[in-house]
Amino acid sequence: MTQALKGVRILDFTHVQSGPTCTQLLAWFGADVIKVERPGVGDITRGQLMDVPNADSLYFTMLNHNKRSITLDTKNPKGKEVLTALMKKCDVLVENFGPGVLDRMGFPWETIQKINPKLIVASIKGFGPGPYEDCKVYENVAQCTGGAASTTGFRDGLPLVTGAQIGDSGTGLHLALGIVTALYQRNSTGKGQRVTAAMQDGVLNLARVKLRDQQRLAHGPLKEYSQFGEGIPFGDAVPRAGNDSGGGQPGRILKCKGWETDPNAYIYFITQAPVWEKICDVIGEPTWKTDPNYAKPPARLPRLNEIFGRIEQWTMTKTKFEAMEILNKDDIPCGPILSMKELAEDQSLRATGTVVEVDHPQRGKYLSVGNPIKLSDSPTVVTRSPLLGEHTDEILKQVLEYNDKQLAEVHGSGALEPPRKVAAAE
Ligand code: COA
Repeated sequence: MTQALKGVRILDFTHVQSGPTCTQLLAWFGADVIKVERPGVGDITRGQLMDVPNADSLYFTMLNHNKRSITLDTKNPKGKEVLTALMKKCDVLVENFGPGVLDRMGFPWETIQKINPKLIVASIKGFGPGPYEDCKVYENVAQCTGGAASTTGFRDGLPLVTGAQIGDSGTGLHLALGIVTALYQRNSTGKGQRVTAAMQDGVLNLARVKLRDQQRLAHGPLKEYSQFGEGIPFGDAVPRAGNDSGGGQPGRILKCKGWETDPNAYIYFITQAPVWEKICDVIGEPTWKTDPNYAKPPARLPRLNEIFGRIEQWTMTKTKFEAMEILNKDDIPCGPILSMKELAEDQSLRATGTVVEVDHPQRGKYLSVGNPIKLSDSPTVVTRSPLLGEHTDEILKQVLEYNDKQLAEVHGSGALEPPRKVAAAE
């Protein structure tokens, strides 16, 4: 079986998280991803959050599977020559440098187009054109400026950022879709184009239900927010709604047996209207099926605290897994709060390749998240991330077809190696 993106070559100029998640996905679908890294240093994440001495960090290894690494000083004249040659041999250049970096390096869009008019140039920046376009951005800045933080957390508490990296990995996903779409369009136009995804835009896209609520607010209180039942007036912006469901079916996180000692002994419980009668039977409130105060969804909205309080009395008598089993039999939507430990040990996630064990020469075996997107005709085999510069000569010979003389020239130019440390005596 071949892979969907076999034959597509990516010049991967990405670093940290957002860009690397994008190119990792493309690699998993079969693209040849050539990661260009600064000699001696590489992607800064190689050395961040290190857990094993002298081994690439999990931060790096978990974001750079299935890629090849070439070291290249792109500010060195010979390095620029190699980079230019690579641009001619690649289909897509992906980068998430700070604003203006590619221009300063001598490769603005106009120049790249002249080098290879078929090249697709894909970029992640913190912001799109506007007042903040020159700002550098990391994950939490994007969550805060994209509408996620202001709508996450509890009404009377601070805005909160979420553990899911919606700014970085979320924007990487957006960019990957832009790239394959541009590749598809290139089939008919024969031309490359620019693909850009701003992290603020990506987060706002993922928070679109809150912009929906912002506009609904102009027509009255948001009745499915707990604050409505609590009689607390709404302001002029969408408030933080704790663990209220973001949709039309009220939901909450409820305690389960063991919550006093286990921080994850909770379940998310949704009072979906079509199964309301079954919920009443399960929790032992059969009269709520017909009582006009509880029978229909609009009547329940002002009573959500009371209703979830009663449901919680029931969930507290069960473990989260027991509750899940009972509720699932009746098609009542719910989900246990699973810890990272539980997810790492989950055998069904291992079986589907969503959690994979990877072997690495410096660090040994480690767990990673595999490709969450499954294509029936393009299976993903996760291979380890490259060591810094591991494929430099291989790429120069195989992709650029350099002979021994050319290879020696590049090596002699200092474009591939870190600057020599000058000893104090020299
Ligand atoms: N050879 C020589 N120089 C290189 C190089 C190479 N192979 N690769 C990178 N560099 C240089 C760049 O040319 C740049 O130099 P300059 O500032 O003199 O022009 C320098 O490295 C730093 O690049 P930059 O991207 O600004 O890195 P940073 O560490 O200062 O900032 C970010 C990091 C993530 C904040 C920034 O890249 C950014 O805002 N990216 C866009 C948004 C984004 O993706 N953020 C999320 C990251 S998870």
